[in-house]
Amino acid sequence: MEKKNLDWSNLSFAYMPTDYRFVTNFKDGKWDEGELTKDDKVVISECAGVLQYSQSCFEGMKAYTTEDGRIVTFRPDLNAERFENSCRRLEMPVYPKEKFVEAVLKTIKANEAYVPPYGSGATLYIRPYMFGSGPVIGVKPADEYQFRILTTPVGPYFKGGMKGIKIRVSDYDRAAPRGTGHIKAGLNYAMSLYPIVKAHEDGFNENMYLDAATRTKVEETGGANFLFVTKDGTVVTPKSNTILPSVTRRSLMYVAEHILGLKTEEREVYFTEVKDFAECGVCGTAAVISPVASVTSKDGVIEFPYGKDEMGPTIKKLYDTLTGIQMGRIDPPEGWIYEIK
Ligand code: PLP
Ligand code: COI
Repeated sequence: MEKKNLDWSNLSFAYMPTDYRFVTNFKDGKWDEGELTKDDKVVISECAGVLQYSQSCFEGMKAYTTEDGRIVTFRPDLNAERFENSCRRLEMPVYPKEKFVEAVLKTIKANEAYVPPYGSGATLYIRPYMFGSGPVIGVKPADEYQFRILTTPVGPYFKGGMKGIKIRVSDYDRAAPRGTGHIKAGLNYAMSLYPIVKAHEDGFNENMYLDAATRTKVEETGGANFLFVTKDGTVVTPKSNTILPSVTRRSLMYVAEHILGLKTEEREVYFTEVKDFAECGVCGTAAVISPVASVTSKDGVIEFPYGKDEMGPTIKKLYDTLTGIQMGRIDPPEGWIYEIK
């Protein structure tokens, strides 16, 4: 298989159509077989549930070329489970976990020529998504749906390499108690566009959202969970049922505890504690772990001892171990790596 002639090392985090995408339709109460297609256009009713009432959800995953030239993906079973939960909460038909994983592997295989080479710093981003395609005008779930998987080669989500990002505490809330913060609904991202555009205009890379009920606890950013490291080396991550259960964060907490032998805590993190941490990072499929240099709020600027020009030592160890597992340099815990053959 010959790779596409792309400038792999200079890709940004942007959409570029690849050769194949997976498509399946839900009609009359069942999913069809599904197929790979070259057609990148979607034709749906002008009154489709997704267009009228934003009935959509998605996932984000990556495929990697390992040091020894294999193509792999990372824990797709966890994305499949989370996707099932998103579908249920949005009254969409579940796309079964096993079929989800099978379709993801098939779509990566079909786009093998777009999986960036080892060492390029780029990866193939995989975006499974579902939307209400059938017409609705009264507020109710659509009765027809489409599930698709597109892929696109990407570079880093945050430019600037290991330089820490600047975050500010948002005046807006991301997720209501008992709302949809714990699932990957398109609507969570639509409402974050205004605050992220304002943050960028004011010179910040991302927003830190606080819990909507009390605005005292750290939740997450618009597209990643938080990790903090205390001065004595404990890895701390916010526990909340209104944040997305990040696959990357769950994996990093496992790596911290079971591979690196660090102390870990998943607990409520009050904003007043943030100034006392030694390191801060945001983690997710797109972000991997990006160091945070500062957090700005109405009370002033918190600058972390590490993160301005380099990753702190603990975040660096976590980053090296996770990417080592993903790129085949470190033996993975059982079931984490799926090879595409
Ligand atoms: N939180 C939000 C709001 C996200 O959009 C993402 C990205 O998927 C994450 C966290 C990180 O999740 P994961 O590690 O599963 O990609
Ligand atoms: C991801 O990390 O996969 C995300 O979905 C975050 C963002 C790009 C929406």
